Formats: sequence, structure tokens, C-alpha cells
Amino acid sequence: ATYETLLVEQREGGVSLITINRPQALNALNGQVLADLTAAFSAYAADDTQRCAVVTGSEKAFAAGADIKEMVDKAAADFFIEDFFSGWQANLVATRKPWIAAVAGFALGGGCELAMMADFILAADTAKFGQPEIKLGVAPGMGGSQRLTRAVGKAVAMEMCLTGRMIGAEEAKQSGLVARVVPAAELVEEAVRTAQTIAAMPPLAAMINKEMVNLAFESGLAQAIQIERRLFQILTATDDRTEGMTAFIEKRPGVWKGR
Ligand code: HXC
Repeated sequence: ATYETLLVEQREGGVSLITINRPQALNALNGQVLADLTAAFSAYAADDTQRCAVVTGSEKAFAAGADIKEMVDKAAADFFIEDFFSGWQANLVATRKPWIAAVAGFALGGGCELAMMADFILAADTAKFGQPEIKLGVAPGMGGSQRLTRAVGKAVAMEMCLTGRMIGAEEAKQSGLVARVVPAAELVEEAVRTAQTIAAMPPLAAMINKEMVNLAFESGLAQAIQIERRLFQILTATDDRTEGMTAFIEKRPGVWKGR
């Protein structure tokens, strides 16, 4: 499929590389990007050959936020009726397959929120994260106030939301917002390599590991540990678990069936 605002490439080893491509607006997230990303994720979810995805932007901007020029004339009722950005919940947030955000340059407002929907963020040393919505008289509206606070803690999140201050890659790393910082020139290839590592894992185990870590943000500790134990037990019923343990003992790589 081709998209107006995205480039989608299938890389070796079952990796989909999705590049947001609206350079004239620093990848601002207008209705077309919203629809294209929803469609691209739906295609990724449906394609059994694809096991991990990477979402990235340009060197200058991952995404500079929701499109302010598109929002300026909308009435409150329009935001409500369109239920602005709710479409990403089903396709980007709730996808069971893993995906990584590879962020260089600006990830602001909705751009920062998009990155935080990913399973984890790899940042270029040029990355800048911020929630500057307050300067526009609004506030984060796609999960930013909650995901940022869970990632970096109250102090940094509150300061960022109240002042609009951006944090750089190193501060984002120290705060726990990103998994790793890499030189900008290596960002996309490093993200693809990382995705290839994940894509080479037994796929059911990848989906369940993802679900388990996400549980930490969605339920109480005792209940989450109980569910973790059950999910672990379910994985022991898979062919790939038998293969994985046998392959270890036989000192050879596992060959996965995805069952
Ligand atoms: C529309 C945008 C845009 C945006 C940049 N552009 N960000 N257009 N929406 N969010 C456009 C500019 O208007 C300009 O177009 C072109 O991209 C280049 O941007 P410049 O400002 O000239 O670049 P620079 O001086 O390098 O500054 C970069 C920047 C700045 C610091 C990222 O553009 C900026 O502050 N952007 C807005 C960031 C922001 O407030 N994001 C939050 C949006 S609210 P022209 O035509 O002039 O060349 C949000 C709410 C989410 O995300 C909740 C939804 C439910």
C-alpha cells in the first residue's frame, strides 16, 4: 500500500519501517497522518510476515505535534464528535505486536505522545521531547499527561507540562523516557537492527512479554503478578517453548513456528 504522508518499507527479517513524511510541516500530525498511521498499523497487524515495526520521522522532527493550522478553526464540538486521535487507541496502542519509536529532532505535543505509545523509544542524540500545549491554551490530549508522568515521574512531567520546556536526549535517558540514545546518523539503522532482534524471537513470546510489561501500568501489583504467572504458564504450552529449550540444550539456534 502507499500512503500520502508515510513511507512504509519492509526490511529483512520481518521488520516494517514506517517513516512519517510531511517535511514541510515538521511532520505535524494532521488528519491525513492520523488516517495513514491507523491504516499502516492495521496492515502491519494483519501481515503474518511482519514481526516488529519501527516508526520514525526525519532528522529534524519525529513530529512537531498535532497540526495547529488544522486545529485553529475547529470548534469544541468538532473535537468531541471526531473524538480527536481516539483512532490510535485501537490500532497503535492496543496492537499486540511490538513496535519501536525512533526519535530524532522534535517530538512535541502529539509527537511526544505518539512516541510514548510505542513499546519503547530509541532516541538520537538530537532528540527533543516536550509537551508545549499549555502555550497554545490547551493541554496534552493523546495520553501525554499520563504516560509522561508514569515514565519520568511527577516532578519532571509537571515542570514540562507547566512550562513547555523541552528535554534533550540525555535528560530523557536519565529520566527513563527513552531506552537508549544513539548518534543521529545511526538512529534508523540501529532501530531496524533492534527490531530485527525482536522479530527473530518466538512471536507468541514477544506478544506476551509485551502484554506483561504493559500490565505494570494497568493494574495493581498483586493482580499483575498473578496474571504474569498465568501468562508464563500459557507460554509453556507452545511448540516454540519446547523448541527454545531443546535448542538451548542442543547448542543450536531455535527455529520458530509461531505456535
Ligand atoms: C502545524 C507546524 C507545526 C504544528 C511546525 N509547523 N509545527 N504546523 N502544526 N504543530 C510548521 C511551521 O508552521 C512552519 O511552517 C514549518 O512547520 C517549520 O516550522 P518552524 O517553526 O519554522 O521551524 P523552527 O523555527 O525550526 O521551530 C521548530 C519548532 C516550532 C520549535 C518545532 O515549529 C514549534 O514550536 N512548533 C509547534 C510545536 C507545538 O506547539 N506542538 C504542540 C501542538 S498541540 P511554515 O509554513 O511557516 O514554513 C498538540 C496537541 C495534542 O500536539 C493533543 C491532541 C488531542
